[in-house]
Amino acid sequence: MTTLDTGMRALRSAFVRAYDLYDRLSIALKGTMPKGLYARALLIIIAPMVLLQSVVAFVFMERHWNLVTQRLSASVVQDIAALIDVYSTFRADQAQVRRIAQERLALAVDFLPVTELPPPGPKPFFSLLDEALSQEISRRIRRPFWIDTVGRSALVEIRVRLDDTVMRVFAPRSAAYASNSHIFLVWMVGTSVVLLTVAILFLRNQIRPILRLADAAESFGKGREVPNFRPRGAREVRRAAQAFIEMKSRIERSIEQRTAMLAGVSHDLRTVLTRFKLELALIGDSPEVEAMKKDVDEMGRMLEAYLAFARGDTGEQSAPTDMAAFLDELKADGERNGHKTSVAFHGHPIVTVRPAAFKRCLANLVSNAARHAHSISITGHRDHRWLTVSVDDDGPGIPPHLREEVFKPFLRLDDARNQDEGGTGLGLAIARDIARSHGGDITLSESPLGGLRAAVRVPV
Ligand SMILES: Nc1ncnc2c1ncn2[C@@H]1O[C@H](COP(=O)(O)OP(=O)(O)OP(=O)(O)O)[C@@H](O)[C@H]1O
Ligand SMILES: [Mg+2]
Repeated sequence: MTTLDTGMRALRSAFVRAYDLYDRLSIALKGTMPKGLYARALLIIIAPMVLLQSVVAFVFMERHWNLVTQRLSASVVQDIAALIDVYSTFRADQAQVRRIAQERLALAVDFLPVTELPPPGPKPFFSLLDEALSQEISRRIRRPFWIDTVGRSALVEIRVRLDDTVMRVFAPRSAAYASNSHIFLVWMVGTSVVLLTVAILFLRNQIRPILRLADAAESFGKGREVPNFRPRGAREVRRAAQAFIEMKSRIERSIEQRTAMLAGVSHDLRTVLTRFKLELALIGDSPEVEAMKKDVDEMGRMLEAYLAFARGDTGEQSAPTDMAAFLDELKADGERNGHKTSVAFHGHPIVTVRPAAFKRCLANLVSNAARHAHSISITGHRDHRWLTVSVDDDGPGIPPHLREEVFKPFLRLDDARNQDEGGTGLGLAIARDIARSHGGDITLSESPLGGLRAAVRVPV
């Protein structure tokens, strides 16, 4: 194995580890990141701003503030050093030194009897000034000293022990310290709060059209009206909204067209059938004519059902509906036909649906159960997203491979079983059509009662 091989292997494993880390990091981030567009957009604005400000503040404190304070401290200490020199070189009068300090240097000087200096005071937490001053004094004066930068707020006290006295100096704090630099920080934070407020207000206005578009698409998906929706907001959002409106009207147009065409066909056929019936009536009575009449009647019934299917549930408005009461009505219908029927509903019963259409959907399922079984059980369940109504029966059921087939219009499994019962094979097709137009669906499965379970699920 060459060194190149080892190198390549090490590189590859490092790469794999880095990729793994990136993966884990992005998963963790995904978990903690806010989900809403509004929160995300805000975060995108806030995070860089806070980062930028922290960096600026840090660099500013570190460099500028430090430097200015150092320079200022140095100049105060230089003044004091000059005073000490004057005092000790010329054996100057204490009063004269005091006067010069007061008038020329704005320092209040006192001479105290020579004693030990007090013990060093507690260091202030934010000790920029303390440090700078101590450094400068030990560099330029080189005598024992004591300073107090905490005590009196506007003044800094410095004591230096000379040979025969202790010189006490009060210097204005502002002369030794870049004292109003915090104004910079106040301005920085203040302006960013203002900017942030403006950003929040603007963002809200930008995001509202997106939310409105989402709401409109959602209600259209549930088959509800989308009242006065218009494209608003930024160009891209408008484009999406415009595309949604066009898609919606295309779908509505094609449904309308389908309905109109089917209705037209059915109507024409009905005219012909009526004529047929009249002609049959004129022919007179014979067993053949009787059979033909029966066939014509059956055709008429099928045509009616077909018309109803074609008409669909167009035009009906969604309205809040009491599902529990609805199911009770179905139960009453079932019992009137002599079937053992039980009903149960869980959850908040008021759901927005197209009432007549939804009732038709459920009634179709119940009539199927009534046709094939003795006892029927209707169960409604509603949570925060879905309304589910299951119709169970104890009949023969439908074998799994046929459970999708039976939704096809005009498909009947029991032609041979009971021909006279007069089903047209449209019940399930209509029911599924209605459920889908509400944004939901119907599924068939095995029932605990032994027969078929038909479950309608629509979003609330
Ligand atoms: N609960 C059930 N148990 C057993 N078979 C069923 C049940 N429901 C429906 N089927 C079968 O599915 C077929 C299609 O049902 P669908 O409701 O579409 O039509 P239909 O009941 O025959 O006629 P229509 O409902 O138009 O009067 C039925 O012919 C029947 O064979
Ligand atoms: Mg049916």
